[in-house]
Amino acid sequence: MSDQFSKKDEAWSARFSEPVSDLVKRYTASVFFDYRLADVDIQGSLAHAEMLAHQKIISQQDYAEIQRGMTQIQTDISAGKFEWLLDLEDVHLNIEKRLTELVGDAGKRLHTGRSRNDQVATDIRLYLRSAIDDIQRLLKDLQHALLHLAEQHAATIMPGFTHMQVAQPVTFGHHMLAYVEMFNRDTERMMDCRKRVNRLPLGSAALAGTTFPIDRLRVAKTLGFDDICHNSLDAVSDRDFAIEFCAAAALVMTHISRLSEELVLWMSPRIGFIDIADRFCTGSSIMPQKKNPDVPELARGKTGRVNGHLIALLTLMKGQPLAYNKDNQEDKEPLFDTVDTVIDTLRIFADMATGITVKPDAMRNAALQGYATATDLADYLVKKGLPFRDAHEAVAKAVRSCEQHACDLTELTLTQLREFSPLIEDDIFSILTLEGSVAARNHPGGTAPAQVVESIKHARNRLR
Ligand code: ARG
Repeated sequence: MSDQFSKKDEAWSARFSEPVSDLVKRYTASVFFDYRLADVDIQGSLAHAEMLAHQKIISQQDYAEIQRGMTQIQTDISAGKFEWLLDLEDVHLNIEKRLTELVGDAGKRLHTGRSRNDQVATDIRLYLRSAIDDIQRLLKDLQHALLHLAEQHAATIMPGFTHMQVAQPVTFGHHMLAYVEMFNRDTERMMDCRKRVNRLPLGSAALAGTTFPIDRLRVAKTLGFDDICHNSLDAVSDRDFAIEFCAAAALVMTHISRLSEELVLWMSPRIGFIDIADRFCTGSSIMPQKKNPDVPELARGKTGRVNGHLIALLTLMKGQPLAYNKDNQEDKEPLFDTVDTVIDTLRIFADMATGITVKPDAMRNAALQGYATATDLADYLVKKGLPFRDAHEAVAKAVRSCEQHACDLTELTLTQLREFSPLIEDDIFSILTLEGSVAARNHPGGTAPAQVVESIKHARNRLR
């Protein structure tokens, strides 16, 4: 990438008596990565120029020239023909310099009443706002894919686990809906974060505001911001919104990572609950029999780097005095990488979810082991009048005896069962089945197939 950043041109002015070394130039430059802000940088500049012209700070003629130049620059960038110069340090100076080459003095007037400090803060907010909108859409797609899977398997029974031990039977649809809830909370968090992203720093200039009669609300309106930032010192140095975003992104990845862990386990031949479509897996270069769930494993791994970016931004900010400091230039790479990682991951997962094959027999067989319906037996005794703690004790004894005889609770005869409690009658057998067990948990949020169907409806409404 760095090859495209040719060297030419000294950006720095009369104030300096010697040029910086090449190493320092490279060390302080950000154009290697902030060229990604070009579109929003131009958008922000045009809104600023429009306001300057409206306020008669520059002429309409200058504004027209700036528009003309920016259109050309935009075209060149899209065509990959724009020459990014390392010597011009960052995206802002590169674009401004080129504008001046193209339109002369009008280009030199663009920076009136503005600083790169409020300019870059505006750019990042515009960039992040659109990234959040993309992420929201992808979170929706993923939820739709999981809801589809849940719908197909509203009544498919699998063992539910606590401590990775078989606990109670659940439906696979219910299990998928747990992730729908997580990704719905992620959506809410992104929406909330967007409110604080969507405020305009421009007009704060370097730190104290500007002597020109600017109209900040006009710029805010043009750029679709809900409000302006109300303190210029805060506006140029605030990166809270980026930290909030990274925190929300870290949670998205945490949810993805938990799902990944389950997919990896479920696909292991030892468990064999699911298969993942070949296009998300790879083979081994040495073991011909292998099909590895690479995508979920990598997603689990990439969660680490997103968590790292959150810590990087928190650490970046913690020691900074007001107002802008060059430290802030370090906000971009973590932020960009977080956005890229989350977007790619969500896109792949929405697709992969539709490529999951569920194996109901394997799930069912696993649920039949491990006394998954022991709680149902205890609840049954409670309904017959036994205090819960006594019921728990009676069933514990029954399970112990089954373990000794290597059989399941359902394999005991009525006579054998009655040894543990005389309250047990022959209606117990329907209760001890897997179907009976899940169907009995029939309240909002419960695992009964009927409730899964209701929850899917509710979740789909929420997505409208
Ligand atoms: N490239 C800089 C950044 O990303 C732009 C702002 C520079 N401002 C300055 N006073 N040096 O933060």
